Amino acid sequence: SDRPRALSGIQPTSGSFHLGNYLGAIRQYVALQETHDAFYMVVDLHAITMPQDPADLRANTRLSAAQLLAAGLDPERCTLFIQSHVPEHAQLGWVMNCITGFGEASRMTQFKDKSAKQGAGNATVGLFTYPILQVADILLYQANAVPVGEDQRQHIELTRDLAERFNQRFGKTFTLPAAHIVKEVAKIYDLQDPAIKMSKSSSSPKGLINLLDEPKATEKKIKSAVTDTEAEIRFDAEKKPGVSNLLTIYSTLTGESVPALEAAYEGKGYGALKTDLAAVMVDFVTPFRLRTQAYLDDPETLDSILAKGAEKARAVASETLAQTYDRLGF
Ligand code: ADP
Ligand code: NA
Repeated sequence: SDRPRALSGIQPTSGSFHLGNYLGAIRQYVALQETHDAFYMVVDLHAITMPQDPADLRANTRLSAAQLLAAGLDPERCTLFIQSHVPEHAQLGWVMNCITGFGEASRMTQFKDKSAKQGAGNATVGLFTYPILQVADILLYQANAVPVGEDQRQHIELTRDLAERFNQRFGKTFTLPAAHIVKEVAKIYDLQDPAIKMSKSSSSPKGLINLLDEPKATEKKIKSAVTDTEAEIRFDAEKKPGVSNLLTIYSTLTGESVPALEAAYEGKGYGALKTDLAAVMVDFVTPFRLRTQAYLDDPETLDSILAKGAEKARAVASETLAQTYDRLGF
């Protein structure tokens, strides 16, 4: 393929992806299939940087893959696989560990944030080095573009630094990737507390829309979303974060622009907006749930898709690793 290559990984989520994951990440994955030679993986090796129950991890990894397919990833148009099915990730990860400075790794703010949440000294060495495994994830595929959120920018910088370092010491081996940060990507906020982003780890379940929720629950969450005491449907992220969040969700799901929505709802109340948005959401999540369930009900098909994905991924990864080992003197 002469298309630029894209690589992204998503954590195996427990239960269900949420609306923020979909509108902020997965939708971009689906779009990039059309323009890039795209590799997407469920990063179970990254998941074990935190304690995991094996049965849950196995189920969640499959459920995540099923949801990615349900969301529109097409195994004919992209390469979808499970990270641990491609042993080259761990192998190149080790090599990258050995060219990373301790101080350099210590500066990764994501590690500082994540380890602080676990209490001093409790974080694993795996969590400390996970940005370096991420470097290997990207370099294995010679990726040009890495679709990530703003919080991952530092890790892309590390990837470029390590690729350049290796290339200088051992000869040109790796492509330097660029962060593919989609500027207009939607950031979705908690429905009950629109000051914080929607996240699986935040606040009340009422503020979080899981894609696999029952349609009735989805409807209820939209209808009880926090707004404000004005009765004007207008986008103003600062003064009207709740209504603005609903407009963002509505616009991103339907493709209608925010100004068009503001015009359409002029003179109408929040109730009308919520009723319509609830219907839009239900129309979206209902087929999504059915498609996800269909993959889970047919484990042979899912296994076969993932086995083919791993095979396609390994064809690229093993070539990069062989060249790396050769350069290193192995
Ligand atoms: P969470 O924040 O729930 O733990 P993750 O960190 O696993 O979610 O995020 C997976 C992907 O979803 C990332 O690309 C991240 O940028 C995106 N994402 C997560 N929450 C949101 C949100 N509220 N709005 C937009 N994108 C989001
Ligand atoms: Na997060």
